[in-house]
Amino acid sequence: MRRFKTTVVGAGNVGSTLAQRLVEKQLTDVVLIDRVTDRGEGKTLDLLQSAPILGFDTKIIGADDYGPTEGSDIVVITAGFPRKPGMSRDDLLKTNMEVVQEVTENIVRHSPEAIIIVVTNPLDAMCHVVKKVSGFPKNRVFGMAGILDTARFRTFIAMELNVSVDNIHAFVLGGHGDTMVPVPRYSTVAGIPIPELLSQDRIDALVERTRNGGAEIVALLKTGSAYYAPSAATVEMIEAIMVDKKKILPCSALCEGEYSIDGVFVGVPCKLGKDGIEEIVDVRLANPELAALHRSAELVREQIVTVDRFMAEAAAAKAPKKKEPSPAKG
Ligand code: APR
Repeated sequence: MRRFKTTVVGAGNVGSTLAQRLVEKQLTDVVLIDRVTDRGEGKTLDLLQSAPILGFDTKIIGADDYGPTEGSDIVVITAGFPRKPGMSRDDLLKTNMEVVQEVTENIVRHSPEAIIIVVTNPLDAMCHVVKKVSGFPKNRVFGMAGILDTARFRTFIAMELNVSVDNIHAFVLGGHGDTMVPVPRYSTVAGIPIPELLSQDRIDALVERTRNGGAEIVALLKTGSAYYAPSAATVEMIEAIMVDKKKILPCSALCEGEYSIDGVFVGVPCKLGKDGIEEIVDVRLANPELAALHRSAELVREQIVTVDRFMAEAAAAKAPKKKEPSPAKG
């Protein structure tokens, strides 16, 4: 039987925890890549040595080059740099655009049929870069954010009501970050919408905490950002694809008319199966919810305009310079 192969690019906190979850669950063989020499190999050797204790036989290879990634079914991009003090959002956009562009070129060369899941931030703009560089169809390029955002919302609802997280479904749309759009009407506890269980004030407080969920962790950790929940969210997406589950999960997907949004990656509910995104589920929203989603999409569009400019400037800088004609002698 042919074994499923997943490449994880970036052997940092998210990438290595994702690799660990995948091999421990025996879901797929994994290749872990990093630009830092030997980092992928070191992490995988450590993981391999946990196999006899935990009893998994999934293969894992670490590498600094893309040779071993050849023919991957799924590639997850976690490579990039975090925002450092003094760095503007545009600086981060440019730095990670360069990383994601280089990574995508390598993926296309070695795994032209792969499904690419983007995790690197700023997420929605990075999905745009991958789509543009790869030229892959939109069902094979999308981002992980919504599952993480809904998981945060579900956690806070469960803590508030002292019930199992299993009972909670949450609905969050929009761009990843400050502009996400939680929809309490469609967020339920054992099927009951939360506005019937919680006051508006409490819902607002939970929504606010969800919106700042990533920043709250960054502030506590001092260095680095969240990785346990982001890696778990990515596993859920990979599993839905591998077993052709047709599971509806919020992903950053390229909207082309859905929710009256055109040409922008933004968080929307998607049906995930063997072909990647098999459908964007266009749920009916109330006017204020739709307006909030459109505002969020507009902010992503602004980032896309900036990133397109950076890409054009980088391409122009690489292009061979035309020779200036020498001034005529006379
Ligand atoms: N190719 C391969 N790996 C790269 C490249 C590249 N061009 N550039 C950077 N990397 C690697 C770094 O060497 C590092 O090991 O990406 C890894 C990133 O790891 P961390 O800094 O630990 O970041 P992490 O916490 O894993 O987050 C990764 O996910 O959630 C998002 O915002 C987060 O964008 C960030 C990404």
